[in-house]
Amino acid sequence: MISARLKNAEISLIRKLINKAPENAINLGLGEIQFPTPRLLLDHAKEVLRDGRIHYTPNAGLPELCEAIAGYYNSSYTENICVTVGAEEAIFATLFSYLDPGDEVLIADPSYLAYKTIIEIIGGVPVYFDLDPKNEFGLDKNSFLSCISNATKMVILNNPSNPLGISFSEDEIEFIIETCLQKNIIIVVDEVYRELFLQERPDSLFERNGNIIVISGLSKSHCMTGWRIGWVISNKPELIKPIITAHQYICTCAPYLSQKVAIKALSAEGLKANEEIKSKLNFNRDFIIKKIKSFSQNIYILPNTYHPFLFVNLQLNDLLFAERLCASGVIVVPGCAFGNKGKGWLRINYGIETKLLEQGIDLFLRTLIK
Ligand SMILES: Cc1ncc(COP(=O)(O)O)c(C=O)c1O
Repeated sequence: MISARLKNAEISLIRKLINKAPENAINLGLGEIQFPTPRLLLDHAKEVLRDGRIHYTPNAGLPELCEAIAGYYNSSYTENICVTVGAEEAIFATLFSYLDPGDEVLIADPSYLAYKTIIEIIGGVPVYFDLDPKNEFGLDKNSFLSCISNATKMVILNNPSNPLGISFSEDEIEFIIETCLQKNIIIVVDEVYRELFLQERPDSLFERNGNIIVISGLSKSHCMTGWRIGWVISNKPELIKPIITAHQYICTCAPYLSQKVAIKALSAEGLKANEEIKSKLNFNRDFIIKKIKSFSQNIYILPNTYHPFLFVNLQLNDLLFAERLCASGVIVVPGCAFGNKGKGWLRINYGIETKLLEQGIDLFLRTLIK
């Protein structure tokens, strides 16, 4: 009965682990920051609700929100934007708009696991290029080139990366852009973690040359996973037009209330709220690194440059360890969930209240010596 398209779509390894975990397990596994949405935004939502007019918006989003998004990219043009139901719908609508059955899509190994499944649901073929664990997960340029065929339509970059918490270097970006320009390959870049930088805000690929579609949203930067606000933007408006059509038939528009709150999130005050989130994340990051290092100098932590993930190598079977840890009440994600190159690694999300993080990491370290 079920469509061929969905038959092979499995629930993710992360969800499977969570489903098996004891009821009060400490969750350092989810791809979300578990702090509340900033008070400023909650108060603003109350004001919008008091007004009571919660209706459809234009398919591409409220004009004021599109202006705010354009402003975030130092642009004033809004015909090149579509507001979506989270970055996830942005990914789906984008792939749905551009992939025909058999089209190949390059994705990094390791990378965010939804890309593979969404590509397959749509009938595309995921092809993995390698990031090299021996070289701090730098791009393996030979592997990238060898993955390109006549059927390659698109490459999906996640910059900065979930699960690695790092971004591509300028040299790597230039190499990818140049290669894709020569071969007429569309670049889709998911920048949903870009605002969670440790030192300096990196440039978006929005202004770069080529057929580039940028995806982002507020789930991570503003602890707004439940509000479901994402977007696509491109400096080539014609690339966004089909996505607006797909989005119209997927969900009509993103929720009105969330769009109104998103305008506030992108205001100067809203961006300050992001700073407060980051200072809590900074504290947690230092805290957890100190704990791990004082336990053992032999646990390798990938030097991350973005919150909220630590990618650590324990030189053991990541899946077995994650299952054992889960049974003792702490969820972390085994690196193998993100691809072959993630084997032996674990992703730990420290975007959780410090007290819980402390309990979770203590149990993690105790499980290591058992
Ligand atoms: C890399 C990446 N892209 C997109 C998403 C989906 O984000 P959203 O909540 O905006 O749909 C996630 C969520 O974990 C993610 O990690």
